[in-house]
Amino acid sequence: MNNIKIRQASISDKATAVDLDYRLDKDEHIKLKREEKISKAILDGECFLISADDKEVGFVIFDYRFFDQGWIELIIIDEKYRGKGIGTKVFDLICEGCKSDKVFTSTNRSNTQMQRALEKADFSFAGELKGLDEGDPELFYYKRINASEND
Ligand SMILES: CC(C)(COP(=O)(O)OP(=O)(O)OC[C@H]1O[C@@H](n2cnc3c(N)ncnc32)[C@H](O)[C@@H]1OP(=O)(O)O)[C@@H](O)C(=O)NCCC(=O)NCCS
Repeated sequence: MNNIKIRQASISDKATAVDLDYRLDKDEHIKLKREEKISKAILDGECFLISADDKEVGFVIFDYRFFDQGWIELIIIDEKYRGKGIGTKVFDLICEGCKSDKVFTSTNRSNTQMQRALEKADFSFAGELKGLDEGDPELFYYKRINASEND
């Protein structure tokens, strides 16, 4: 798909983001109070709508809470638009707009799609953390950006 863009979400985009999250995992959506989290991210200016060919296809939550480095908290692309290179391009766009030296994110070991998209966007594996989801460790990735000549 072409013409992939991100724009800061406004409260009128909340239903779109909440619906995408609900469809991804209804139980987690309710259990983890994701509607509240999405609302807060929108109000804090940390939620971005993803469009491809002028169609809204997903959203991403991005902030600087992880040791003051860029942190991709959550990204969801509508199921019918996955596997078309949109996720990879969104990671590039996030890195281009990032004000810190590095962008970090994490995903479960079982999420090979996310790992593949990150690798295509030149993210490196940073390490693994056990204990969050039983039997499915969290894999951390990062990409160095805004590097000085000495880095
Ligand atoms: C993870 C995610 C954001 C990646 O975005 P995407 O647009 O699908 O990513 P890309 O198309 O750039 O790359 C995905 C890669 O996974 C591969 N892939 C593996 N299984 C796939 C599947 N079931 N569907 C689609 N792609 C799949 C793709 O083929 C592609 O690799 P390739 O280019 O070598 O073929 C998206 O798939 C998604 O929203 N998933 C559900 C939510 C999620 O898991 N979010 C991440 C946790 S925060």
